[in-house]
Amino acid sequence: MNLVLLGAPGAGKGTQAEVISNRLSIPIISTGAILREAVAAGTPLGVQAKTCMDAGELVPDELIISIIKQRLTAEDCSHGFILDGVPRNVSQADALKEMGVAVDAVIDIDVPDADIIARLSGRRVCGKCSAPYHLINKPPVVEGVCDVCGAPLVARADDSEATVSERLRVYHKNTEPLIDYYQKQGKLFVVDGSQSIQETTRLVFAVIEALS
Ligand code: AP5
Repeated sequence: MNLVLLGAPGAGKGTQAEVISNRLSIPIISTGAILREAVAAGTPLGVQAKTCMDAGELVPDELIISIIKQRLTAEDCSHGFILDGVPRNVSQADALKEMGVAVDAVIDIDVPDADIIARLSGRRVCGKCSAPYHLINKPPVVEGVCDVCGAPLVARADDSEATVSERLRVYHKNTEPLIDYYQKQGKLFVVDGSQSIQETTRLVFAVIEALS
């Protein structure tokens, strides 16, 4: 199954992607995580992406499309995948279509803006494997340490209040039109992401099971 997770910054895409990936044994393709790795490694892609990411803006489409083209050729994508944070605008969605990427369903995790700032101020991520945590809603077993790989947890550079406000503005302007885009194709399923993590997972799997 090829899934797209749509939603505002901090809506819970990464959190739900992790559960879906574990249960369905399909990989997560997170453009945000790939870009952060490139920034940390100081590659040419990372150098180009960093300014946009620090400002809360979108990275140019041509870089994203090239990342996706390359990633989807990997063997682990042959039985399905979860696109987390891509497409981010209509031109990226059109590019996926032109590449022949069949999207089975788009799950839009709907969370009001008011909840987003609180969520992102408490977010911590693993500096090594990117697993997401929250100081209150999803604390690790051992404070400050990733449950998955044991690496230290860090706050994301783009989770400051000013950058989150800009990311939300960019989301509403560029990404929200995808709701209509996929609704017209009959592929959109909206879940209420303002519930607890566990309840949101239940709603997400109600969609996935109805599709299977
Ligand atoms: P990206 O990494 O994709 O960030 P984002 O879309 O802004 O989304 P987030 O990762 O911030 O949030 P999430 O929805 O995954 O939430 P999470 O599960 O972590 O992109 C970063 C940047 O890269 C972009 O700004 C852009 O510059 C660039 N970029 C990436 N892709 C691009 C593309 N395709 N095109 C152009 N540029 C691109 O949850 C958030 C927190 O809330 C966590 O602490 C979690 O524990 C907690 N939480 C989750 N669910 C719940 C719940 N139900 N209740 C309470 N707490 C919850």
